[in-house]
Parts: sequence; C-alpha cells; structure tokens
Amino acid sequence: MSLQPSSRILSGRAPAKVNLFLRVIARRADGYHELETVMAKLPGLFDTVSCSDSWDEQLTLSVEPCYPASFAFEPVPVDDTNLVLRAARLLRTRTGCRFGAKLHLIKRVPAAAGLGGGSSDAATMLLLLNDLWRTGLTEAELLGIGAEIGSDVPFFVANSAAALCSGRGEHVQPISWRIPLPIVLVRPMGGLSTSNVYRACIPEPQGPSAEEFVSCQQHLGLFRVARGLHNSLQRAAESLSEEIGALRQLFQANNVISHQLTGSGSAYFGICQNARHACVIANKMRGAGVPWVWSGMTAAA
Ligand code: C5P
Repeated sequence: MSLQPSSRILSGRAPAKVNLFLRVIARRADGYHELETVMAKLPGLFDTVSCSDSWDEQLTLSVEPCYPASFAFEPVPVDDTNLVLRAARLLRTRTGCRFGAKLHLIKRVPAAAGLGGGSSDAATMLLLLNDLWRTGLTEAELLGIGAEIGSDVPFFVANSAAALCSGRGEHVQPISWRIPLPIVLVRPMGGLSTSNVYRACIPEPQGPSAEEFVSCQQHLGLFRVARGLHNSLQRAAESLSEEIGALRQLFQANNVISHQLTGSGSAYFGICQNARHACVIANKMRGAGVPWVWSGMTAAA
C-alpha cells in the first residue's frame, strides 16, 4: 500500500483598495513615477484565493469569474502574466523551494480598474504559499518579494487597514485610520492600462500633502476627509477614456460628498453620508445603466 500525504488546502480573502489620495510628484529615470498615496482596503469587496499541495513541481492556476451578469469583460489570464503565478515562482526562486501547487482564484474585483485586484491576489497567495510550503519568510522578506511583483503588492502584504505609501508605491507606512468611509464604487465597461495613464499624467511637484490628508482624518470628521480627496491621475484617465468624464458628471449630479478616480482607474468612487445613502446612490447608478456597481465601507482600525 502506498501512503500519500494528505493534501492541505489554504484559502484567504484578497481585498480591493481605493486610493483616497494620490499625488504624482515626478517622473523617474527608470520609467516609474515618484508618488505619495493613501490607500484604504475594502474588506467587503474581495477575491477568494486558495492553494493546495501538488505531488509534482507543477504550478497550475484556475480562475472562476464571479461578476454580475451586467458586467461582461476581459477574461483573467491563467498564464505567467497573472501576478499570482509570478508570486509563486518568485517565492520558489528566492527560497530554493521546489514544491508545486494548485492555485485557484474566485474573481469578484474587476481588473484594469485601479482597485488593486491582481496585486492583492498576488500578495495573499504569497502569504498562503509561505505557509503551505513552510518557507518561513518574515513579513519584511515578503514585502521585498511583493515590491518585485508590483508597486501595490507590499500594501496588501502589510496587515493594515490603510497606509501612506511612497516611492513608486512600494514603501508602506501603516496608518491608523479612524473613520470608515461609506462609498459607492463603479467600474465602466472599459478598463484602463496603468502604464498608459501614468504616461499621460502631468506630475505635481507642488501640491496637496498626503501627510496633511492623514492628519485631517485623525482630527476632523467625514466631511473634511471627503473634501481632501485628490488624484493626480484623474485628468490623464479622462483624456484616455470618455467614460471617466461621464462618471464624474454622474456622481456630480447625484450629490455625493465628493468623488474621484481610484488609482489609475477606470473604477470611480463617491463618498456618501452613511451606508444607507451609499445604497441609495448605488441603486441610482444601476438605474443609470452603469455595468458594475458596489457599495460598502472602507476599512478602519
Ligand atoms: O508596478 P506595476 O507593475 O504595478 O506598474 C505598472 C506600470 O505602471 C509600470 O510599468 C509603470 O508604467 C506604471 N507605474 C508608474 N509609476 C508608479 C507605478 C506604476 O509609472 N509609481
């Protein structure tokens, strides 16, 4: 009789994020942009990421889309362009581990949206595989691997509800975020390419400060925080997609406290007065024919 060790399955939630503040400071020689951004996780909007042992060295990925029927869009790749597979391969290279794994994603977070879906999946998979393969890397080491996968990945490796991120986004300073923000989040039919949006943006060497935005949140209320929203990438995104300007006008007409693009888009969000108000606005957005709409709260801790 051959004895097979039993297979372990590990799963986790990979939450989306919104950029409440994003100032592009300068274009860098390496093609990236120096920025300061404040990101908050959305615990109620997440992909489910899981991995299980494989008895050979193979890494395989399967993806199960789970979007509303109104939202038909680009399929998620299952080849090496998927950040989850890049995370698994990089973890093996850095640790010398030769194990394989079966990786699975249930996708609810729209891609090409500035919601960090792919980065969050990769970060969560990194944490799960570090456990499954017992590779024993520390959080600092995982943050380093995350930064190699993508600028937003370290934010999702770090166990914090919100953070002020700098450099190209990979330097993460967790912040205590006091006020959960009721938001309505929408994604138009078309996505936007992060690199195209950055290429079209005009840096703001002088401009509002992320630190002031954070301190405003620590000392003042929801309305002041909402008025401090900022995103240097919005104008560039509007120049690349007419859908973004149309969403701005739709939010304007719907009396939210304030609204803006998240990250490089194409998702767009508005801050509402409370959770009930967010539900009402979300229904209006659905009624206006917006293909993907979500309402909920940003994380606080
Ligand atoms: O780091 P990540 O792979 O997610 O970045 C995707 C693209 O977005 C980069 O290739 C670059 O064109 C652009 N980017 C940038 N400046 C940043 C982050 C991303 O120009 N701070």
